[in-house]
Amino acid sequence: MTERAGKIFDYLRQEGYISGEELATLLGVSRTAVWKQIESLRELGYEIEASPRKGYLLRKKPDRLYPWEVGKGLKTRFIGKEIEYYDRISSTNERAKELFPSRPPEGALVLAEEQTGGKGRLGRKWYAPPGGIWMTILLTPRLPTAELPKLTMVGAVALSKAIRQELGLETLIKWPNDLLLEGKKISGILTELTGELGRVEYLVLGVGINANQRQGDFPEELGTKAGSLRMAMGEKIDRLALLRTYLQIFEAEYLQALEEGFSSILRYCREYSATLGRWVEIRDGDRVYHGKAIEIEESGGLVIQTEKGERIRVLSGDATLSREPS
Ligand code: BTN
Repeated sequence: MTERAGKIFDYLRQEGYISGEELATLLGVSRTAVWKQIESLRELGYEIEASPRKGYLLRKKPDRLYPWEVGKGLKTRFIGKEIEYYDRISSTNERAKELFPSRPPEGALVLAEEQTGGKGRLGRKWYAPPGGIWMTILLTPRLPTAELPKLTMVGAVALSKAIRQELGLETLIKWPNDLLLEGKKISGILTELTGELGRVEYLVLGVGINANQRQGDFPEELGTKAGSLRMAMGEKIDRLALLRTYLQIFEAEYLQALEEGFSSILRYCREYSATLGRWVEIRDGDRVYHGKAIEIEESGGLVIQTEKGERIRVLSGDATLSREPS
């Protein structure tokens, strides 16, 4: 949005009609210039009524996560204060990593309506059509490398809290950081690091939220494994409100974790765990473990107990919930 269109937009946002003449005077430009900017706002999807006697009226906003909409009323200190926005991009994580050389500030956000090459954990693809929330937060945490995987848990806990606050829905966290709602995956997080060993420069925290997709929007191969917030609510959700709340809660949890450690994050992960007490299959690279999930350790690792009673600690991997062996 140009600066001039932005100013017009600020006036339109205030209640009621405003005439072209008034806008022209307020901005010190011609009425034709005002009209041109109104057209550019319409191209962005804003429905603006033009009445010959009353003037312009903003009727409807598009369902878009435009940065100026996200920023309106966003109560954070640094998360999401700079936003790079795309209609469509390959992957917000990849784009975020391209930004490193220009040294973006901590908390900068890459946000997209759609990803064509979305990345999931363990080299998988992440399906990211319009209607979801696809974002990457750039962070520069001063933490020992061993602690960094727990930041992914901060991302998941903050999202679980934001969903409860905004929509009243209770999600569970499938270790290490998938969010489940009614047994279906509604969010995934992919963290990637840069920098030399032992000295992290940037960490990108990529968060995918299945917000407004319908069942038919998911590819068949996902079957019934994936769900969306809209499917659970039975109606479209306000993505902007959820995103703002998420960024606010994330910032608070992140700062708390840096200052006081991760114990309250881990406590939440245990309390709202979809994994603890369940039989699971854990894949970590080529290794596969079967057992009952019995503990999430302070390290963030999962302890499982095999059928033979052997205890195994898994630090990373992917868990599939399974039935109790018969
Ligand atoms: C998973 O496999 O569960 C993690 C999925 C992470 C998806 C998000 S969407 C925004 C960001 N950009 C990507 O390419 N991936 C992450």
